[in-house]
Amino acid sequence: MRPLFWLVGFALLFGPFLRSPDAPDPEGNDPGRLVSEIDFEFTQSLENFEEDYELELGAPLAEAAEAWFGPESALARDPEFLNFARVRAGERAYAMHCVGCHGAIGDGAGPAARHLYPRPRNFRRGVFKFTSTPSGARPLREDVFQTITRGLSGSSMPDFRLVSEERRWDMVEYVRYVAMRGEFEEMALEFAWEDEEIPDLDELAEIVIERWHPDELRAVPPAIAETPNDSASITRGRELYNDTTTANCAACHGESGVGDGPSAADFKDGWGYPIVPRDLTTGVFRAGSRPADLYRSIATGVNGTPMPSFESSMTGEEIWDLVHYVQSMARNEQ
Ligand code: HEC
Ligand code: HEC
Repeated sequence: MRPLFWLVGFALLFGPFLRSPDAPDPEGNDPGRLVSEIDFEFTQSLENFEEDYELELGAPLAEAAEAWFGPESALARDPEFLNFARVRAGERAYAMHCVGCHGAIGDGAGPAARHLYPRPRNFRRGVFKFTSTPSGARPLREDVFQTITRGLSGSSMPDFRLVSEERRWDMVEYVRYVAMRGEFEEMALEFAWEDEEIPDLDELAEIVIERWHPDELRAVPPAIAETPNDSASITRGRELYNDTTTANCAACHGESGVGDGPSAADFKDGWGYPIVPRDLTTGVFRAGSRPADLYRSIATGVNGTPMPSFESSMTGEEIWDLVHYVQSMARNEQ
């Protein structure tokens, strides 16, 4: 009994002072590292690389990541690009609300992740599915904010309306930070594996920074305002949906829209997991079911999945016709 008593007493008295130097400071004043800077799986692949090629990538990579993306970097001095006060506050909110699924470092491998389908997003590829930006582009802050605020219906990603708006913006910034830094690190490792030498890290950092530069990112606006949602529009939408020479939505989503089209078998997403085309008849859409949300999904596609972007191959009117047809399927009117 007695040693236990002393142990507990000691822990209660001195515990608060024994914070490991790497742990984030609960007050947020710690100029040290952020949790996101440690990636176990990533470190392991780095070790493999170093062993296989006898090239030391780990130290130069950590140094470059810190210099280009860390709290002292030029990026961090430009709050338009990366607001580091928010990154720090966001990390604490993220630790409370998001780690269980997305993992401490944003690799999508939290303790709950292996039980979930679809899997929680691995942010370290820089790829986001639900964006208003052109196909393949990085998301706007507003896109990430919308995902956090509204959640993704039909997946386990909850909505966080009850978390204050300020905190949600903080988490947006933290997710952006983890995503750009992760993208740089993963890209460097990939190049190193391919070429069996250490790539030009500064050049890679510049590529990643350009992809994330707010000046480079624009929302794809609906080409025209919503057209009348009448039976003529729905009929045109149905024709397009089934037309094998143009939209050809039926190839994946199936003629009836339940997601059983002939091309739909064996799709994998960009993270290596199986994926099926959405069942369009349930009315449950991850990125939202308002007409503008559906327009956005059809116009910009869903990055990292086979769902293509139709922005450049279709007119605004045609996309609205498809939106109206998809809505009618969800109402089971067809
Ligand atoms: C219960 C598990 C769970 C929790 C908790 C959770 N998420 Fe998610 N999240 C998911 C899943 C699953 C997806 C992927 C859905 C998909 O692929 O359609 C996702 C996707 C995302 C995306 C990517 C959207 C895109 O466009 O690709 C973001 C950003 C995100 N979550 C942020 C957060 C943040 C921030 C928190 C904490 C406030 C959080 N999530 C908490 C499960 C979770
Ligand atoms: C090559 C296959 C393919 C084609 C062609 C295709 N889709 Fe998709 N679509 C998908 C996949 C896969 C998903 C699921 C993405 C995910 O799980 O996040 C999807 C998702 C969607 C969504 C759901 C977005 C959300 O928020 O949940 C809509 C709406 C949609 N597609 C409409 C269409 C329309 C309309 C067309 C034709 C103009 C079309 N799709 C063509 C594969 C395809």
